Amino acid sequence: MSKTITVNGAEHHIDLPGEVPLLWVLRDQLNMTGTKFGCGVAACGACTVHIDGEAVRSCQVALEDVEGAVTTIEGLGTPEMMHRLQQAWVDHQVAQCGYCQSGQIMQAAALLDTTPNPSDADFDEAMAGNLCRCGTYPRIRAAIKDAAGLEG
Ligand code: FES
Ligand code: FES
Repeated sequence: MSKTITVNGAEHHIDLPGEVPLLWVLRDQLNMTGTKFGCGVAACGACTVHIDGEAVRSCQVALEDVEGAVTTIEGLGTPEMMHRLQQAWVDHQVAQCGYCQSGQIMQAAALLDTTPNPSDADFDEAMAGNLCRCGTYPRIRAAIKDAAGLEG
């Protein structure tokens, strides 16, 4: 199929079968490799991006089903003007191997957009599907609270 999608504010014309997951469109067609492939079955969160501000697993969204503006980690902030979560991630030195962290940040960004002052229960519900094999969960929680302006 032939489809135009908007990613990080720019339109891209894609010629691929409609069933190709958005994850591979981003990584292989658009060379946006910040979005990671982990499980491919919606079980890890490494591939999380936003569509119209909602966190989605890009491994589970077919190109033909993409409706709305896509935002990836490359579009969340820039090195010169980081998103507040990216700054908090740096301040708290969250990443270990780093593989899961794009997905963690994108999931957290969607959380703070809808729930600016998340409770621990809000945090647990929003972040439960984002796995980190390196066990950086305490630093992820601290960084999100910092970005939200909450006490650790
Ligand atoms: S790669 Fe999509 S949820 Fe794991
Ligand atoms: S930092 Fe290694 S998987 Fe999360």
